[in-house]
Amino acid sequence: MKVLVVGGGGREHAIVWKLSQSRHVDKVFCSPGNAGIAEIAECFDMGTGNYNELVDFVRYEWIDLTIVGPEAPLSKGIVDVFEKDNRRIVGPAKAAAQLESSKVFSKEFMKKYRIPTAEYKVFTSYLHAEDYVRMKGAPIVIKADGLAAGKGVIVASTVDEAIDALKRIMKDKEFGDAGNRVIVEECLQGEEASFMAFTDGTTIVPMVSSQDHKRIFDGDRGPNTGGMGAYSPAPVVTEDLEAIVMEKIMKPTVNGLRSEGIKYKGVLYAGLMLKGGKPSVLEFNCRLGDPETQPVLSRLDSDFMDISMAIADERLAEIDVTWKKDASVCVVLAAKGYPGAYEKGKVITGLDDVKDMENVAVFHAGTTFNNNGTVVTNGGRVLGVTGIGKDIKAAKERAYEAIKKIHFDGMQYRKDIADRALRKEKS
Ligand code: AMP
Ligand code: GLY
Repeated sequence: MKVLVVGGGGREHAIVWKLSQSRHVDKVFCSPGNAGIAEIAECFDMGTGNYNELVDFVRYEWIDLTIVGPEAPLSKGIVDVFEKDNRRIVGPAKAAAQLESSKVFSKEFMKKYRIPTAEYKVFTSYLHAEDYVRMKGAPIVIKADGLAAGKGVIVASTVDEAIDALKRIMKDKEFGDAGNRVIVEECLQGEEASFMAFTDGTTIVPMVSSQDHKRIFDGDRGPNTGGMGAYSPAPVVTEDLEAIVMEKIMKPTVNGLRSEGIKYKGVLYAGLMLKGGKPSVLEFNCRLGDPETQPVLSRLDSDFMDISMAIADERLAEIDVTWKKDASVCVVLAAKGYPGAYEKGKVITGLDDVKDMENVAVFHAGTTFNNNGTVVTNGGRVLGVTGIGKDIKAAKERAYEAIKKIHFDGMQYRKDIADRALRKEKS
């Protein structure tokens, strides 16, 4: 079979890597892909938003299945365009993707279906929002309604900081129309975890647990990023907790949407805050996490093509999804300046030295080829070096051993990825 993957980051490299191991897959295409993906797939760049052209390409190439990585095409309705043409695709339709693309939709949905989440209020008027923040006091959380590349959430520790965020979002329109509506939300305390599940709109199959590190610097300091590393399993997600999350969050979400006439197919990702064994939803994502996918798919035993076809054809109940016992740790190597402005085009060395290392997989994110065919940096997050081992400690050591061999100008990475899990394992 032939398969197309949409996207070009570390998550998509992990997806393409896993698909290329499938006994059913003869060829993988990827749009736009990156330098790492180009080694195992045929990359082409259709540009963003040309979904009709992409469908034409799929028809012309006899591609059996398309898998969508990032949230932007999902929120713009790529799935709707494909399904109208009877093309198999994995990902939620536009209406279902609102769980991520509109935080107001998501909060109102959770309230209606009694899914545990923080108390909140929605504002379209800056003055009313400011009054409310002054009345509530800090800490308090401000969220732009729409997609803002992970930057639209401000956890404010003072009232001034919260008001500054309101000004930037509502008056200065820092995130454009994404800030037409704002949520002011209770600040929850506890420990965060990511919970992802495959679903075909009826059957829900949880993945192994994972956790990412959002802040740029060691010790969870500095500004938020797309994610500086991730590990799996996350020891905070016990079997009991998984059962609670399935009953109180995943099932009511998929079933609630279905009762509204919205079928959710693809991956449902709940960002959770855990306290005293009770989960609350911080946010939903309508896709696999990045970098969580890198460690999670490293642990998948089943054939990813089988799972993906079963999601598209709505027969996920027939599939036995199994996982390896191993642990996995992914450390992101980022460009100097990230998550702010960064330079591109820095030569990356050492990639050949790590290629044959056992229990190591290097997933490319922002990479491309320069005119000489050399691999260079092309984004903020450049590589995700993933180690696999019998436990988190062994997996972490493997990842950092591989990193020693890789270099590019201005390379920065956290030295403490997965330490949180190690502390937990000890206690
Ligand atoms: P989101 O983009 O919605 O995932 O939010 C980004 C991050 O902001 C989360 O991973 C949390 O660390 C934090 N956050 C979001 N909502 C809350 C909340 N209600 N209380 C505390 N922290 C939050
Ligand atoms: N790592 C967080 C996300 O993918 O949204």
